[in-house]
Amino acid sequence: MAVNIVIGTQWGDEGKGKVIDVYAGRADVVVRSQGGNNAGHTVVLGEETYKLNLIPSGILHKNALCLIGAGVVINPKTILKEIDELEKRGITCDNLRIDPRAHVVMPWHVELDGLSEKFRGEMDIGTTRRGIGPCYTDKYERSGIRIYDLIHTELFERKAKQSGKLKNKIITAVYEGQALDLNSVIEEYKSYGIRLSKYVGDVSVLIHKAYLEGKNIMFEGAQATLLDIDFGTYPYVTSSHPLSAGVFVGAGAGPKMADDIIGVAKAYTTRVGKGPFPTELFTDIGDYIRVKGGEYGTTTGRARRIGWFDSLIVRHSVRVNGLTKLCINKLDTLCGLKQLMICTAYKKPDGTIIDDFPPVLEELADCEPVYETHEGFDENICQCKSFEQLPASCKRYIDRLESLCDCKIAIIGVGPERTQIIER
Ligand code: GDP
Ligand code: IMO
Ligand code: MG
Repeated sequence: MAVNIVIGTQWGDEGKGKVIDVYAGRADVVVRSQGGNNAGHTVVLGEETYKLNLIPSGILHKNALCLIGAGVVINPKTILKEIDELEKRGITCDNLRIDPRAHVVMPWHVELDGLSEKFRGEMDIGTTRRGIGPCYTDKYERSGIRIYDLIHTELFERKAKQSGKLKNKIITAVYEGQALDLNSVIEEYKSYGIRLSKYVGDVSVLIHKAYLEGKNIMFEGAQATLLDIDFGTYPYVTSSHPLSAGVFVGAGAGPKMADDIIGVAKAYTTRVGKGPFPTELFTDIGDYIRVKGGEYGTTTGRARRIGWFDSLIVRHSVRVNGLTKLCINKLDTLCGLKQLMICTAYKKPDGTIIDDFPPVLEELADCEPVYETHEGFDENICQCKSFEQLPASCKRYIDRLESLCDCKIAIIGVGPERTQIIER
C-alpha cells in the first residue's frame, strides 16, 4: 500500500500529467482535490496525446477509481464534453465519482471572470477566464451552487434563479455587460445535472474505504505552489490551495495518510499569465527553449514565459509542501545550450543577498537573481534509462539542483512519454 501526492512546485505546467500517469499505473484510486478546468494535464501514450482538464489522469488506466473531491470547482458542460471525448476514444469513465459538495461553475462565473479582468485593465491577472475565481468567491461567500444542487432539479432551479438574478445585476449595472438568459441557462444546466447524477458519490468516504482496504492511492495535484492563494505570488495566483495541505482539505482525508509528497519541477522555469518572474529570459535562449519545449498553454494556447531554474522557488515549495521527493522534467529540452544558469540567491537593491523566496510581491519586485553558470550539453538524452547514462554535465546539473533545493531528485524527465523517465 502506498499513498502518494504529486504537486506542482513552480507556476504550473511542470509535466505533472506525465508523472501522475506513471504513478496512476500503480494506483487503485486517483484523486483530484482542488482547482477546476484552469488545469491542463498532458499525457502522451505512443501516438496518442490526451489533454485532461478536470478528469483525473488515472482515467487512462482501466482499473483505477477516479475521484473528484469537494474542493474542485466543476464546469458541468466541460466535464461532460471531456467524458464524451474520452469515451469516443475508447476510454470508459464508469469509474469516475464526483463529490456532491463540489461547487459548480455557472456561465455567470465565466462571464464575470472576463469582465473583471477587463475592468482591471493594466492590472489584470491573466486568468484562464474559466470562471474559477468567481466560483470560489461564491463558495466562500456561502452562496454557491453545488453538485448536489445541480442533480436535484427543483433545488437547482431555486438556487440558480436566486444567484443568476444577482449576477445579472452585477454584470449589467457594475460592468455594463450583457445579461444572461437565465431560463435557458437553467434548462441547459438541468440537463447536465441529469447526466452527471450517475457519477456522484461521497469522495471522502470512498478514500477512507480504500485506505482501510490497503489500496494504493494517488492524489493528483493541479496548478502549483506559486499559484497558491496564500503562498504564491499574490495576487497573480489562482483562487485555491494547490499545496499538499490543500489536497487533504479538498479531498476530505487526513494528512497522516501520505507516504510520499512528490514535487514536480521543470529543469528551467515557465509561467503563463501575468506577475513577477525574476529569472525570466527575454533573449533568443528563451525563444529556443519555448520552441524546443513546445511551451504553449495546454488550456489556453498562450505562449509561456520562460526563465532559468530558480532554486529559491523550488526550495520554497519543498518547505511549504513538505516534499519528500522531487521530479525534474524536461531536462532534454535544454539540449543544445552551451551554458545553463541556475539562480541560487536574490540580491536586494541595498546589496543584501537573500536565499528564501520573499513572502510578498513588493519585495520580490526589487530582487535581482544571482546566477551560477554550468556547462550545457549537446547529446540527445531522450533514450537514457538511468542516471549513469546521462552526460557528465547533466549529472552535475542535477546534483547541483538537488543540493540547492535540499530534496532528493528521485525522477528525471527526458521526454513527454510515460517511458521517458529515469527513476533513481
Ligand atoms: P502539467 O499541467 O503539469 O500536467 O503540464 P502540461 O501538460 O500543461 O505541460 C507539460 C508539457 O511538457 C506537456 O506537453 C508534456 O507532454 C510535456 N512534457 C512532460 N515531461 C516532459 C519531459 O520530460 N520532456 C519533454 N520534452 N516534454 C515533457
Ligand atoms: P496546471 O494544473 C499554469 C494560472 C493562470 C493565471 C492564474 C489565475 O495545468 O499546471 P485562474 O484561471 O486560475 O483564475 O488564473 O493561474 N493558472 C495556471 N497556470 N498551469 C495551470 O494548471 C494553471 N491554473 C491556473 O494562467 O496566471
Ligand atoms: Mg498544464
